[in-house]
Amino acid sequence: MAAEAEPLRGLWYMPALASSLAPGQMRREMLLGEPLLLGRMRDGQPFAMRDICPHRGVPLSAGKILAENTIECPYHGWRFRRDGVCSAIPSLVEGQDLDPNKIRVRHYPVREQDGLLWVYVAAKNEAPVSEPPRVPNVDSRSIGQEKYGPDSETRGRDFPSGRATNQKPRWTDIQDFPCGIDHAVIGLMDPVHAAYVHDHWWWKRPQRLKEKHYAPLPTGFAMTPHKPSKPAYKLLGDVTTEITFELPSTRFEIIKGKLFGKAFTVIGLTLCTPRDGETTSVIQVFYWPGWLFFIRPFFMILGPTFIADDRKIVELQREGLRFSPNLMLIQDSDQPAIWYHRVKKAWAESLESGTEFVNPVQERILRWKS
Ligand code: FES
Ligand SMILES: [Fe+2]
Repeated sequence: MAAEAEPLRGLWYMPALASSLAPGQMRREMLLGEPLLLGRMRDGQPFAMRDICPHRGVPLSAGKILAENTIECPYHGWRFRRDGVCSAIPSLVEGQDLDPNKIRVRHYPVREQDGLLWVYVAAKNEAPVSEPPRVPNVDSRSIGQEKYGPDSETRGRDFPSGRATNQKPRWTDIQDFPCGIDHAVIGLMDPVHAAYVHDHWWWKRPQRLKEKHYAPLPTGFAMTPHKPSKPAYKLLGDVTTEITFELPSTRFEIIKGKLFGKAFTVIGLTLCTPRDGETTSVIQVFYWPGWLFFIRPFFMILGPTFIADDRKIVELQREGLRFSPNLMLIQDSDQPAIWYHRVKKAWAESLESGTEFVNPVQERILRWKS
């Protein structure tokens, strides 16, 4: 199995929920080993830049956001706009010809959508080559079938209705796992750990043969719509679920069903945000239409337990990984993890060589017992 590699670049990451930053607030967030100053100007605009003042290295996160929508460094008061350009150096006097605008802090493209703040981590300083993924529409009345295959347009695709609306997070949970992104991602896509790791009466059922159809997506793969076997889904009646994964770590679970004669979609989004080589935040966000409000207590009770189970096993795993053992990925049950490594490798190679990314995943049925 491939050793833990550097997280991929040329992609969007999600370091914080939009609701965690009010206008005029900012803070340091680590992202891919880099200190990020993430904040929101007083006019509400989000921004992200390197949290290091180019003058003498003080974290800009210790400064303040001024009424004019600039950030003031706490050391000598240099001011920076949201695009990282220095707008003022207070110590300059008449006749000193230093143009502050020539000084800049590295800035990161940011998008705010669906209650999430996405930050683009460039490979080589390039402008974003994609847009962050949209959350499928939960309020749509139509239930559409997704198209699969390497050519389907996932980036920015609005499933199912064809229009991008801003989805509202109804439940969120963030937990820090003591591991790099790979073990966090693989742990979450592992189809057979549930019976052991999530060993709760409400999730458990006797082991049996599973057969699931997988298909490629532009930068990942999907377990195509199927009837889930876990009893917890019964709360939503008769549903189908579909699970997608795309780089760097966007996992959507798209649950569709009908209650009281009304069609609905519930979306579970799980993201792994690498902070540094040893910490990855696992962020879970659920979206559902307003009229499904009564399912909220279910998430409040079970949601944190679920991710905490995964975190605990990663904490245990760390005890073994300290000794750099050789690891294994076996047969169909580890095929999603094998695909993950292959897709990652193909992405890294396409960035390196400047050639087009080709998804190595082929459509397939996977079989395992769980
Ligand atoms: S260190 Fe930031 S203004 Fe001097
Ligand atoms: Fe899990």
